[in-house]
Amino acid sequence: MNILLIGSGGREHAIAWKLKQSIHTDKLFVTQGNAGTEQIADNISLNINNPQLVKEFVHNNNIEMIIVGPEAPLADGIKDKLNDIIHNIHFIGPSTEGAQLESSKSFAKKFMEKYNIPTASHLDVTRENIKEGYNFIDQQKPPYVLKADGLAAGKGVIITESKAEAYTTLDEMVKGKFGKASYKVVIEEYLKGTEVSVFALTDGKNYVILPEAKDYKRIYEGDKGPNTGGMGNISPVPFATEEFINKVEERIIKPTVNGLNSENIDYKGFIFFGLMNVNGNPYVIEYNVRLGDPEAQTILPLIENDFVELLVATSEERLDTVSIIKSNQTAATVILASGGYPEKYQKGKIITGLEDVDESIVFHAGTKTVENGNIVTAGGRVLAITSLGRNIIEAVNKSYRSAEKINFEGKYYRKDIGQDLIKMIEQNQ
Ligand code: AMP
Ligand code: GLY
Repeated sequence: MNILLIGSGGREHAIAWKLKQSIHTDKLFVTQGNAGTEQIADNISLNINNPQLVKEFVHNNNIEMIIVGPEAPLADGIKDKLNDIIHNIHFIGPSTEGAQLESSKSFAKKFMEKYNIPTASHLDVTRENIKEGYNFIDQQKPPYVLKADGLAAGKGVIITESKAEAYTTLDEMVKGKFGKASYKVVIEEYLKGTEVSVFALTDGKNYVILPEAKDYKRIYEGDKGPNTGGMGNISPVPFATEEFINKVEERIIKPTVNGLNSENIDYKGFIFFGLMNVNGNPYVIEYNVRLGDPEAQTILPLIENDFVELLVATSEERLDTVSIIKSNQTAATVILASGGYPEKYQKGKIITGLEDVDESIVFHAGTKTVENGNIVTAGGRVLAITSLGRNIIEAVNKSYRSAEKINFEGKYYRKDIGQDLIKMIEQNQ
Protein backbone atom coordinates (compact mmCIF):
# COMPACT_ATOMS: atom_id res chain seq x y z
CA MET A 1 0.00 0.00 0.00
CA ASN A 2 0.99 3.63 -0.39
CA ILE A 3 1.63 5.43 2.88
CA LEU A 4 1.89 9.08 3.94
CA LEU A 5 3.98 9.84 7.03
CA ILE A 6 3.78 13.29 8.62
CA GLY A 7 6.87 14.71 10.35
CA SER A 8 10.51 15.64 9.82
CA GLY A 9 12.56 14.41 12.77
CA GLY A 10 14.60 11.42 13.84
CA ARG A 11 11.45 9.70 15.04
CA GLU A 12 9.98 9.95 11.56
CA HIS A 13 13.14 8.62 9.93
CA ALA A 14 12.90 5.62 12.27
CA ILE A 15 9.20 5.12 11.48
CA ALA A 16 9.96 5.37 7.74
CA TRP A 17 12.84 2.89 8.12
CA LYS A 18 10.53 0.43 9.90
CA LEU A 19 7.73 0.89 7.33
CA LYS A 20 10.19 0.25 4.48
CA GLN A 21 10.94 -3.20 5.91
CA SER A 22 7.30 -4.23 5.57
CA ILE A 23 6.32 -6.38 2.62
CA HIS A 24 3.13 -4.31 2.42
CA THR A 25 4.75 -0.93 1.77
CA ASP A 26 4.73 0.25 -1.82
CA LYS A 27 5.25 4.00 -2.11
CA LEU A 28 6.17 5.89 1.05
CA PHE A 29 5.79 9.68 1.17
CA VAL A 30 7.09 11.84 4.02
CA THR A 31 6.13 15.46 4.59
CA GLN A 32 8.45 17.30 5.10
CA GLY A 33 11.03 14.66 5.91
CA ASN A 34 14.80 15.21 6.11
CA ALA A 35 17.97 14.09 4.31
CA GLY A 36 17.58 10.63 5.86
CA THR A 37 13.98 9.98 4.83
CA GLU A 38 14.89 11.27 1.38
CA GLN A 39 17.14 8.23 0.92
CA ILE A 40 14.35 5.72 1.55
CA ALA A 41 11.12 7.57 0.70
CA ASP A 42 9.69 10.46 -1.32
CA ASN A 43 9.98 13.68 0.63
CA ILE A 44 7.14 16.01 -0.25
CA SER A 45 6.10 19.45 0.86
CA LEU A 46 2.43 19.26 1.77
CA ASN A 47 0.63 21.95 3.76
CA ILE A 48 -0.99 19.67 6.32
CA ASN A 49 -2.91 22.60 7.81
CA ASN A 50 -4.98 22.63 4.63
CA PRO A 51 -7.22 19.53 4.77
CA GLN A 52 -8.31 20.00 1.16
CA LEU A 53 -4.71 19.69 -0.05
CA VAL A 54 -4.17 16.59 2.08
CA LYS A 55 -7.36 15.00 0.72
CA GLU A 56 -6.27 15.73 -2.85
CA PHE A 57 -2.85 14.22 -2.21
CA VAL A 58 -4.42 11.11 -0.68
CA HIS A 59 -6.74 10.75 -3.64
CA ASN A 60 -4.15 11.42 -6.35
CA ASN A 61 -1.55 9.09 -4.87
CA ASN A 62 -3.82 6.29 -3.77
CA ILE A 63 -2.74 6.66 -0.12
CA GLU A 64 -4.15 3.94 2.12
CA MET A 65 -2.47 4.83 5.40
CA ILE A 66 -1.56 8.09 7.17
CA ILE A 67 0.73 8.09 10.19
CA VAL A 68 1.26 11.25 12.24
CA GLY A 69 4.66 11.42 13.98
CA PRO A 70 4.58 14.60 16.13
CA GLU A 71 1.90 15.85 18.52
CA ALA A 72 1.22 19.30 17.02
CA PRO A 73 -0.87 18.20 14.00
CA LEU A 74 -2.84 15.85 16.28
CA ALA A 75 -3.53 18.60 18.81
CA ASP A 76 -4.54 20.85 15.89
CA GLY A 77 -7.16 18.28 14.93
CA ILE A 78 -5.81 16.79 11.72
CA LYS A 79 -7.80 13.58 12.19
CA ASP A 80 -11.09 15.42 12.72
CA LYS A 81 -10.42 17.66 9.72
CA LEU A 82 -9.97 14.62 7.48
CA ASN A 83 -13.14 13.05 8.85
CA ASP A 84 -14.85 12.46 5.52
CA ILE A 85 -11.96 10.41 4.08
CA ILE A 86 -10.90 8.66 7.26
CA HIS A 87 -13.17 5.62 6.81
CA ASN A 88 -11.37 4.79 3.56
CA ILE A 89 -7.85 4.82 4.99
CA HIS A 90 -5.91 3.62 8.01
CA PHE A 91 -5.16 6.66 10.17
CA ILE A 92 -2.64 6.31 13.01
CA GLY A 93 -3.01 9.05 15.63
CA PRO A 94 -5.80 10.13 17.98
CA SER A 95 -8.66 12.59 17.41
CA THR A 96 -8.35 16.12 18.84
CA GLU A 97 -10.17 14.94 21.93
CA GLY A 98 -7.70 12.10 22.48
CA ALA A 99 -4.73 14.37 21.77
CA GLN A 100 -5.71 16.40 24.84
CA LEU A 101 -3.95 13.77 26.93
CA GLU A 102 -0.83 15.63 25.79
CA SER A 103 -2.12 19.06 24.74
CA SER A 104 -3.78 19.84 28.09
CA LYS A 105 -2.05 18.81 31.30
CA SER A 106 -5.18 19.74 33.21
CA PHE A 107 -7.30 17.41 31.00
CA ALA A 108 -4.77 14.62 31.55
CA LYS A 109 -4.83 15.17 35.33
CA LYS A 110 -8.64 15.08 35.47
CA PHE A 111 -8.64 11.92 33.36
CA MET A 112 -6.12 10.23 35.68
CA GLU A 113 -8.08 11.26 38.77
CA LYS A 114 -11.32 9.92 37.31
CA TYR A 115 -9.77 6.56 36.45
CA ASN A 116 -7.61 6.25 39.59
CA ILE A 117 -4.34 6.30 37.68
CA PRO A 118 -1.38 7.04 39.98
CA THR A 119 0.08 10.53 39.41
CA ALA A 120 1.39 13.46 41.49
CA SER A 121 -1.25 15.44 43.42
CA HIS A 122 -1.96 18.78 41.78
CA LEU A 123 -3.93 22.01 41.57
CA ASP A 124 -5.05 23.94 38.47
CA VAL A 125 -4.34 27.66 38.86
CA THR A 126 -5.37 30.67 36.76
CA ARG A 127 -5.39 34.42 37.57
CA GLU A 128 -8.74 33.86 39.31
CA ASN A 129 -7.55 31.45 42.01
CA ILE A 130 -3.91 32.45 42.31
CA LYS A 131 -4.18 32.71 46.13
CA GLU A 132 -5.13 29.04 46.25
CA GLY A 133 -2.02 28.47 44.14
CA TYR A 134 0.23 30.15 46.77
CA ASN A 135 -1.44 28.06 49.48
CA PHE A 136 -0.85 24.86 47.50
CA ILE A 137 2.83 25.81 47.09
CA ASP A 138 2.98 26.39 50.88
CA GLN A 139 1.70 22.86 51.47
CA GLN A 140 4.36 21.24 49.24
CA LYS A 141 7.89 20.28 50.15
CA PRO A 142 10.52 21.68 47.75
CA PRO A 143 11.30 21.32 44.91
CA TYR A 144 8.18 22.92 43.45
CA VAL A 145 6.84 21.82 40.05
CA LEU A 146 4.89 24.28 37.86
CA LYS A 147 3.62 23.31 34.42
CA ALA A 148 1.99 25.28 31.63
CA ASP A 149 -1.32 23.60 30.86
CA GLY A 150 -0.87 23.72 27.06
CA LEU A 151 1.84 22.74 24.59
CA ALA A 152 4.93 24.88 25.13
CA ALA A 153 7.52 23.20 22.90
CA GLY A 154 8.89 21.18 25.82
CA LYS A 155 9.76 24.30 27.79
CA GLY A 156 6.62 24.72 29.91
CA VAL A 157 7.81 22.89 33.04
CA ILE A 158 9.61 24.83 35.79
CA ILE A 159 11.11 22.99 38.76
CA THR A 160 12.62 25.12 41.51
CA GLU A 161 13.94 24.66 45.06
CA SER A 162 13.02 28.23 45.97
CA LYS A 163 9.55 29.02 47.23
CA ALA A 164 9.99 32.70 46.32
CA GLU A 165 10.85 31.71 42.75
CA ALA A 166 7.84 29.36 42.65
CA TYR A 167 5.59 32.30 43.62
CA THR A 168 7.03 34.67 41.02
CA THR A 169 7.08 32.00 38.31
CA LEU A 170 3.42 31.24 39.00
CA ASP A 171 2.62 34.97 38.64
CA GLU A 172 4.56 35.21 35.38
CA MET A 173 3.06 32.04 33.95
CA VAL A 174 -0.62 32.95 34.47
CA LYS A 175 0.18 36.32 32.86
CA GLY A 176 1.49 34.55 29.74
CA LYS A 177 5.17 33.63 30.25
CA PHE A 178 4.50 30.80 27.77
CA GLY A 179 1.73 32.62 25.92
CA LYS A 180 -1.77 31.18 26.09
CA ALA A 181 -0.31 27.78 27.05
CA SER A 182 0.36 29.01 30.61
CA TYR A 183 -2.77 31.07 31.37
CA LYS A 184 -3.62 27.92 33.25
CA VAL A 185 -0.84 26.39 35.38
CA VAL A 186 -0.77 22.94 36.92
CA ILE A 187 1.15 22.93 40.21
CA GLU A 188 2.29 19.44 41.17
CA GLU A 189 3.73 17.49 44.02
CA TYR A 190 7.38 16.57 43.25
CA LEU A 191 7.94 12.86 42.61
CA LYS A 192 11.36 11.51 43.49
CA GLY A 193 12.55 8.54 41.49
CA THR A 194 13.90 7.42 38.12
CA GLU A 195 12.07 8.16 34.89
CA VAL A 196 11.20 5.62 32.24
CA SER A 197 9.32 5.97 28.95
CA VAL A 198 6.77 3.21 28.36
CA PHE A 199 4.89 2.87 25.05
CA ALA A 200 1.65 1.23 24.06
CA LEU A 201 -0.15 1.01 20.76
CA THR A 202 -3.93 1.07 21.17
CA ASP A 203 -6.93 0.67 18.89
CA GLY A 204 -9.13 2.38 21.51
CA LYS A 205 -10.20 -0.90 23.13
CA ASN A 206 -7.19 -3.21 23.06
CA TYR A 207 -3.50 -2.46 23.38
CA VAL A 208 -0.07 -3.97 22.97
CA ILE A 209 2.92 -2.92 25.05
CA LEU A 210 6.05 -1.94 23.13
CA PRO A 211 9.62 -1.95 24.48
CA GLU A 212 10.35 0.73 27.10
CA ALA A 213 13.33 3.12 27.11
CA LYS A 214 15.34 5.30 29.43
CA ASP A 215 15.70 8.80 28.01
CA TYR A 216 18.68 11.05 28.84
CA LYS A 217 16.96 14.43 28.76
CA ARG A 218 19.57 16.89 29.98
CA ILE A 219 22.21 18.37 27.70
CA TYR A 220 25.29 17.64 29.85
CA GLU A 221 26.78 14.47 31.27
CA GLY A 222 25.59 13.46 34.73
CA ASP A 223 22.09 14.81 33.89
CA LYS A 224 23.19 18.43 34.24
CA GLY A 225 22.12 21.53 32.35
CA PRO A 226 18.87 22.38 30.62
CA ASN A 227 16.34 19.87 29.34
CA THR A 228 16.48 18.85 25.68
CA GLY A 229 14.20 16.71 23.55
CA GLY A 230 16.41 13.78 24.58
CA MET A 231 20.14 13.16 24.09
CA GLY A 232 20.14 9.37 24.10
CA ASN A 233 18.22 6.27 25.08
CA ILE A 234 18.68 2.71 26.25
CA SER A 235 16.17 -0.10 25.76
CA PRO A 236 15.25 -2.37 27.46
CA VAL A 237 15.62 -0.71 30.88
CA PRO A 238 17.05 -3.03 33.56
CA PHE A 239 14.93 -1.63 36.41
CA ALA A 240 11.75 -2.00 34.35
CA THR A 241 11.46 -5.62 35.47
CA GLU A 242 8.55 -7.88 34.60
CA GLU A 243 7.08 -7.07 38.02
CA PHE A 244 7.35 -3.32 37.38
CA ILE A 245 5.88 -3.54 33.87
CA ASN A 246 3.01 -5.64 35.24
CA LYS A 247 2.26 -2.83 37.69
CA VAL A 248 2.40 -0.32 34.83
CA GLU A 249 -0.02 -2.44 32.82
CA GLU A 250 -2.54 -3.02 35.65
CA ARG A 251 -2.40 0.43 37.26
CA ILE A 252 -1.78 2.65 34.25
CA ILE A 253 -2.13 1.18 30.75
CA LYS A 254 -5.36 -0.80 31.29
CA PRO A 255 -7.22 1.99 33.11
CA THR A 256 -6.04 4.52 30.50
CA VAL A 257 -7.34 2.49 27.55
CA ASN A 258 -10.53 1.57 29.43
CA GLY A 259 -10.99 5.25 30.30
CA LEU A 260 -10.63 6.31 26.65
CA ASN A 261 -13.13 3.63 25.69
CA SER A 262 -15.68 4.62 28.38
CA GLU A 263 -15.41 8.27 27.36
CA ASN A 264 -15.96 7.26 23.72
CA ILE A 265 -12.73 8.98 22.76
CA ASP A 266 -11.51 8.00 19.30
CA TYR A 267 -7.92 6.90 19.87
CA LYS A 268 -6.02 4.70 17.45
CA GLY A 269 -2.35 5.25 17.88
CA PHE A 270 0.62 5.36 20.21
CA ILE A 271 0.47 6.35 23.87
CA PHE A 272 3.73 7.38 25.50
CA PHE A 273 3.57 7.08 29.28
CA GLY A 274 6.25 9.29 30.85
CA LEU A 275 6.60 7.52 34.20
CA MET A 276 8.44 8.01 37.46
CA ASN A 277 9.53 4.84 39.25
CA VAL A 278 9.08 5.78 42.91
CA ASN A 279 10.45 2.89 45.01
CA GLY A 280 9.24 0.30 42.53
CA ASN A 281 5.84 1.93 41.97
CA PRO A 282 4.99 3.71 38.70
CA TYR A 283 3.43 7.20 38.59
CA VAL A 284 2.44 9.09 35.44
CA ILE A 285 4.39 12.32 34.94
CA GLU A 286 2.90 12.95 31.54
CA TYR A 287 1.10 11.39 28.64
CA ASN A 288 2.23 11.96 25.06
CA VAL A 289 0.07 10.95 22.12
CA ARG A 290 2.95 9.84 19.88
CA LEU A 291 6.18 7.90 19.98
CA GLY A 292 9.13 9.56 21.71
CA ASP A 293 12.08 11.10 19.94
CA PRO A 294 14.69 9.54 20.23
CA GLU A 295 12.79 6.66 21.89
CA ALA A 296 11.33 5.62 18.51
CA GLN A 297 14.85 5.31 17.09
CA THR A 298 15.71 3.00 20.00
CA ILE A 299 12.60 0.82 20.34
CA LEU A 300 11.52 0.33 16.71
CA PRO A 301 14.65 -1.68 15.79
CA LEU A 302 13.76 -4.03 18.69
CA ILE A 303 10.27 -4.80 17.37
CA GLU A 304 10.27 -7.77 15.00
CA ASN A 305 6.63 -7.60 13.86
CA ASP A 306 5.75 -6.34 10.40
CA PHE A 307 5.03 -2.70 11.20
CA VAL A 308 2.33 -2.17 8.57
CA GLU A 309 0.46 -5.27 9.80
CA LEU A 310 0.63 -3.88 13.34
CA LEU A 311 -0.75 -0.53 12.25
CA VAL A 312 -3.52 -2.05 10.12
CA ALA A 313 -4.56 -4.19 13.13
CA THR A 314 -4.68 -0.94 15.15
CA SER A 315 -6.86 0.77 12.62
CA GLU A 316 -9.16 -2.27 12.33
CA GLU A 317 -9.47 -2.67 16.13
CA ARG A 318 -7.83 -6.10 16.03
CA LEU A 319 -4.96 -5.55 18.47
CA ASP A 320 -6.36 -8.31 20.70
CA THR A 321 -5.16 -10.75 18.02
CA VAL A 322 -1.61 -9.42 17.89
CA SER A 323 1.48 -10.15 20.01
CA ILE A 324 4.56 -8.01 19.99
CA ILE A 325 7.71 -9.91 19.09
CA LYS A 326 10.63 -8.26 20.85
CA SER A 327 14.25 -8.81 19.95
CA ASN A 328 16.38 -10.05 22.85
CA GLN A 329 19.06 -7.50 21.96
CA THR A 330 19.75 -4.20 23.71
CA ALA A 331 19.55 -0.93 21.79
CA ALA A 332 21.50 2.25 22.54
CA THR A 333 20.92 5.58 20.82
CA VAL A 334 23.33 8.50 21.04
CA ILE A 335 22.26 11.90 19.69
CA LEU A 336 24.75 14.08 17.83
CA ALA A 337 23.65 17.67 18.39
CA SER A 338 24.70 21.08 17.11
CA GLY A 339 27.01 22.95 19.50
CA GLY A 340 24.90 25.34 21.60
CA TYR A 341 21.69 23.27 21.50
CA PRO A 342 19.19 23.54 23.27
CA GLU A 343 19.98 27.28 23.21
CA LYS A 344 21.24 29.07 20.08
CA TYR A 345 23.17 27.05 17.50
CA GLN A 346 24.29 27.38 13.92
CA LYS A 347 22.95 25.47 10.92
CA GLY A 348 24.32 24.58 7.51
CA LYS A 349 27.44 22.71 8.69
CA ILE A 350 28.57 19.98 6.28
CA ILE A 351 28.23 16.45 7.70
CA THR A 352 30.95 13.96 6.70
CA GLY A 353 31.69 10.32 7.45
CA LEU A 354 28.14 8.99 7.25
CA GLU A 355 29.19 6.33 4.75
CA ASP A 356 31.91 5.03 7.13
CA VAL A 357 29.40 3.86 9.73
CA ASP A 358 29.11 0.08 9.54
CA GLU A 359 27.91 -1.15 12.94
CA SER A 360 25.06 1.29 13.71
CA ILE A 361 21.92 2.68 12.13
CA VAL A 362 22.08 6.42 11.57
CA PHE A 363 18.70 8.12 11.81
CA HIS A 364 18.64 11.69 10.57
CA ALA A 365 16.86 14.46 12.51
CA GLY A 366 17.90 18.05 11.68
CA THR A 367 19.57 17.43 8.32
CA LYS A 368 18.99 18.46 4.74
CA THR A 369 20.57 17.85 1.37
CA VAL A 370 21.81 20.98 -0.39
CA GLU A 371 22.17 21.59 -4.12
CA ASN A 372 25.70 20.25 -4.50
CA GLY A 373 24.60 16.98 -2.85
CA ASN A 374 26.18 17.68 0.55
CA ILE A 375 24.18 16.81 3.64
CA VAL A 376 24.21 19.70 6.13
CA THR A 377 22.92 20.33 9.65
CA ALA A 378 19.50 21.91 9.83
CA GLY A 379 18.45 21.59 13.47
CA GLY A 380 19.56 21.21 17.10
CA ARG A 381 19.47 17.46 17.23
CA VAL A 382 21.18 16.37 14.02
CA LEU A 383 21.57 12.58 14.00
CA ALA A 384 20.54 9.66 16.20
CA ILE A 385 23.01 6.78 16.18
CA THR A 386 21.38 3.52 17.19
CA SER A 387 23.21 0.25 17.74
CA LEU A 388 22.13 -3.18 18.86
CA GLY A 389 24.22 -5.43 21.06
CA ARG A 390 24.04 -8.32 23.51
CA ASN A 391 24.07 -5.86 26.41
CA ILE A 392 24.22 -2.13 27.13
CA ILE A 393 28.02 -1.96 27.05
CA GLU A 394 28.23 -3.58 23.63
CA ALA A 395 25.43 -1.45 22.18
CA VAL A 396 26.69 1.93 23.47
CA ASN A 397 30.26 1.20 22.49
CA LYS A 398 29.15 0.61 18.90
CA SER A 399 27.23 3.90 18.91
CA TYR A 400 30.24 5.77 20.31
CA ARG A 401 32.61 4.30 17.73
CA SER A 402 30.17 5.41 15.01
CA ALA A 403 29.79 8.85 16.63
CA GLU A 404 33.52 9.39 16.21
CA LYS A 405 33.39 8.58 12.51
CA ILE A 406 30.82 11.27 11.76
CA ASN A 407 31.89 14.89 11.79
CA PHE A 408 30.44 18.37 11.51
CA GLU A 409 31.57 21.65 13.00
CA GLY A 410 30.28 21.99 16.56
CA LYS A 411 29.33 18.29 16.93
CA TYR A 412 28.33 17.60 20.54
CA TYR A 413 27.17 14.42 22.24
CA ARG A 414 26.88 13.07 25.76
CA LYS A 415 29.55 10.48 26.54
CA ASP A 416 27.67 8.87 29.45
CA ILE A 417 24.58 7.34 27.83
CA GLY A 418 23.75 4.13 29.71
CA GLN A 419 26.60 4.49 32.24
CA ASP A 420 24.21 4.78 35.22
CA LEU A 421 22.44 1.60 34.14
CA ILE A 422 25.73 -0.27 33.64
CA LYS A 423 26.71 0.73 37.21
CA MET A 424 23.30 -0.29 38.53
CA ILE A 425 23.69 -3.75 36.95
CA GLU A 426 27.25 -4.14 38.32
CA GLN A 427 26.12 -3.19 41.83
CA ASN A 428 23.34 -5.78 41.75
CA GLN A 429 25.69 -8.58 40.74
P1 AMP B 1 7.06 17.06 31.36
O1 AMP B 1 7.10 18.07 30.26
O2 AMP B 1 5.75 16.97 32.06
O3 AMP B 1 7.61 15.73 30.90
O4 AMP B 1 8.13 17.51 32.42
C1 AMP B 1 9.49 17.68 32.08
C2 AMP B 1 10.37 16.99 33.08
O5 AMP B 1 10.17 17.54 34.38
C3 AMP B 1 10.03 15.52 33.26
O6 AMP B 1 10.66 14.75 32.30
C4 AMP B 1 10.56 15.26 34.64
O7 AMP B 1 11.97 15.09 34.62
C5 AMP B 1 10.28 16.54 35.36
N1 AMP B 1 9.00 16.47 36.10
C6 AMP B 1 7.79 16.79 35.64
N2 AMP B 1 6.84 16.60 36.59
C7 AMP B 1 7.48 16.17 37.70
C8 AMP B 1 7.05 15.81 39.02
N3 AMP B 1 5.79 15.88 39.40
N4 AMP B 1 8.00 15.39 39.88
C9 AMP B 1 9.30 15.30 39.51
N5 AMP B 1 9.77 15.65 38.30
C10 AMP B 1 8.88 16.07 37.39
N1 GLY C 1 12.23 12.10 24.32
C1 GLY C 1 11.08 12.61 24.94
C2 GLY C 1 9.99 12.99 24.04
O1 GLY C 1 9.91 12.59 22.89
O2 GLY C 1 9.09 13.71 24.48
